[in-house]
Amino acid sequence: MTDSTAPTIVVSAGPDEAACCTADLITESMRENHAAVLGLATGGTPVGVYRQLVERCRSGKLDFSGVTTFNLDEYVGLGPEHSQSYRYFMQQQLFDHVNILASNTHVPDGRATDIESYVVEYERQIRQAGGIDLQLLGIGNNGHIAFNEPGSAIDSRTRMVALTENTIDANSRFFESADLVPRSAITMGIGTILESRRIVLMATGKAKAAVIKAAIEGPIDPVNPASLLQQHPQLTFVLDQAAASGLNV
Ligand code: PGA
Repeated sequence: MTDSTAPTIVVSAGPDEAACCTADLITESMRENHAAVLGLATGGTPVGVYRQLVERCRSGKLDFSGVTTFNLDEYVGLGPEHSQSYRYFMQQQLFDHVNILASNTHVPDGRATDIESYVVEYERQIRQAGGIDLQLLGIGNNGHIAFNEPGSAIDSRTRMVALTENTIDANSRFFESADLVPRSAITMGIGTILESRRIVLMATGKAKAAVIKAAIEGPIDPVNPASLLQQHPQLTFVLDQAAASGLNV
């Protein structure tokens, strides 16, 4: 008997091939539905994916005019003009180079004054758009997805969270010093992410091999937030050989 909830695991040769494969899945979703709602991620991993999507749009193969996007997270305190804000990242990597309507792009507002009401409103906007068709995810070295750090609940919603030392340390490479990394963020919850119709988690490089193995083959345990995705019926891992090197396959 096959396990109907077993994730699909795609192993590509290297990071460029994995980016291409992830871009293919997003392309497929956009071709199936001109008004697709995409959940987007930041970080080093999806940069190659966005490069592919920009190229495809420039060559007329992809049309973002009907697409709506919701990003996973944002640092508290950073506005769109801050070079390390996730809004800035998304403009640079994707939005400024494709024919998406600015009003259809959503990144949590790191400068929201009333965060408690703001996060409820963010969830309402996702629902109003019809829910997320495809959610792209990366994975942190500690198993975090978005900024859902170890210990996050499976039914957690969009909220403000404190970042762990591990994440501050990992992300300090983008700031002049670790002191400048914000200590808190707004993040979609794991419950929010699990409501997406399809989830694509991309990971590349040897440093992710152990956490990927735990996410796929380990127990469903909030200690590794990515393992909480295991029950999702439409879950795809796109890995390169290095990130897949610990798997029992
Ligand atoms: P990375 O980050 O893509 O820069 O490795 C992933 C994450 O922290 O979710």
